[in-house]
Amino acid sequence: MKKLLVLTSGGDAPGMNAAIRACVRIAIYNGIDIYGVKRGYNGLIENDIEHFSLMNVGDIIHRGGTILQTSRSPEFQTPSGFKKAIDNIDKMEADGVIVIGGDGSFRGARELAKAGVATVGIPATIDNDLQYTDYTLGFDTALNTVAQAIGNLRDTSSSHNRANIIEVMGRHCGDIAIHAGLAGGADGIIVPEVSNSMDKLCDKIQKGKERGKRHHIILVAEGAMTGYDVANYIKLKLGISTRVTVIGHLQRGGSPTVFDRNLASKFGSHAISTLIEGRTSRVIGISGKMIFDMDIDEALEKKKVLDQEMYKLAEVLSI
Ligand code: F6P
Repeated sequence: MKKLLVLTSGGDAPGMNAAIRACVRIAIYNGIDIYGVKRGYNGLIENDIEHFSLMNVGDIIHRGGTILQTSRSPEFQTPSGFKKAIDNIDKMEADGVIVIGGDGSFRGARELAKAGVATVGIPATIDNDLQYTDYTLGFDTALNTVAQAIGNLRDTSSSHNRANIIEVMGRHCGDIAIHAGLAGGADGIIVPEVSNSMDKLCDKIQKGKERGKRHHIILVAEGAMTGYDVANYIKLKLGISTRVTVIGHLQRGGSPTVFDRNLASKFGSHAISTLIEGRTSRVIGISGKMIFDMDIDEALEKKKVLDQEMYKLAEVLSI
């Protein structure tokens, strides 16, 4: 193992920089040359690749975003784009590629592996929508951003006797809504995995109002309904004042939490060891306290399931 490439792909996530830093430093520590690929798979196609020294990854552990930049690359999915990427990897005589990203990025990594490139994936997406790992990089930071927003909105909600609807990210996965909703004491959590009864939610708000509750916080994951649809329903049914906050890309940025930084360092270290030990077509994950690697096909086959216990707990606590 002499030469490695590292790239970030898909939606950015806080902790990506800390993961790049860990990959670069552990590689150099082991006498391996490492290169950063710019803008995800697009950089592989366009040969936009830079040699990295220790200095290139200084002062980034605490920064959100990704110094390598990122992209969702439709060209990589075309035969000609994919061939260009493979040709550039061959020309560089790279021994392996580390892909830091989510589900879509791992599907790209799997194609590289099928073409004979030694590949390892590090899970990074605020959505936490990969079933094989307890946590993905960026999820914890996003939760803290949302929890902070809930706290602020709670203040103004109770001052005005309103229902504040907070729309968070999660096209197919309600993890952000459930975890942040539980932490923020939400009155209702609407996620794509559960068919929600708006009437039941309205009854709960009404009962709360009757016992003197002055604020109503509803979390909705973007994949379930829009915040505006929820607000209109509540307003029509109960006649109470509503306000909608779409947190949007605010939850994708910001300095990573201690949890995300340290997880990134552990993931990066494990990714390099995996390649050095000759295991390829793998993804890195965490289960409890254990960092592990798993076959990429096996990981991608696992369908994300909702944490029913947590959902139920949030529901019971919001009676
Ligand atoms: O996959 C992460 C994610 O943040 C989703 O939750 C969201 O729907 C999507 O990316 C938005 O992506 P973008 O605005 O970068 O296209």
